[in-house]
Amino acid sequence: MERTFVMIKPDGVERGLVGEIISRIENKGLKLIQLKLIFASPDILENHYMEHRNKPFFKDLVDSMKDKPVLAMVVEGENSIKLMRIMVGDKDPLCALPGTIRGDYAIETTKNLIHASDSRESAVREITIWFGDIL
Ligand code: PPS
Repeated sequence: MERTFVMIKPDGVERGLVGEIISRIENKGLKLIQLKLIFASPDILENHYMEHRNKPFFKDLVDSMKDKPVLAMVVEGENSIKLMRIMVGDKDPLCALPGTIRGDYAIETTKNLIHASDSRESAVREITIWFGDIL
């Protein structure tokens, strides 16, 4: 069984989309095995987005999320990494297809609602950052 890390970002929590997004994940047939609402510290966000630290958007991305509530989850199921990425949709809501979470609910990249790990390596790294050594 494959596990992936999923996070509803502060804009998704603030807009009250937690229930809708969790329903989509569960209706798909994937299972939530860890879930917590936490105020994301700058340290955890910088660690999470480490690979983008040299990108021009890095500071704004971390600043826009820090000390705000996020819903961190571990989602389990066959091919959960790929399935969650498809359900989330393109990072740019202008390119995200209808039927995806970003395609249906987001209009700008800076408020694109949700993150899901892009590979097995990222999933292991991110689950460890947010939940410790539970694997
Ligand atoms: S890249 O380099 O743009 O291809 O990086 P990518 O892996 O697609 O995106 C990395 C994460 O940064 C978010 N992102 C942005 N946030 C704010 N502003 C801008 N301009 C921006 N560009 C990319 C993108 O949504 C990814 O975050 P997550 O949380 O993984 O979706």
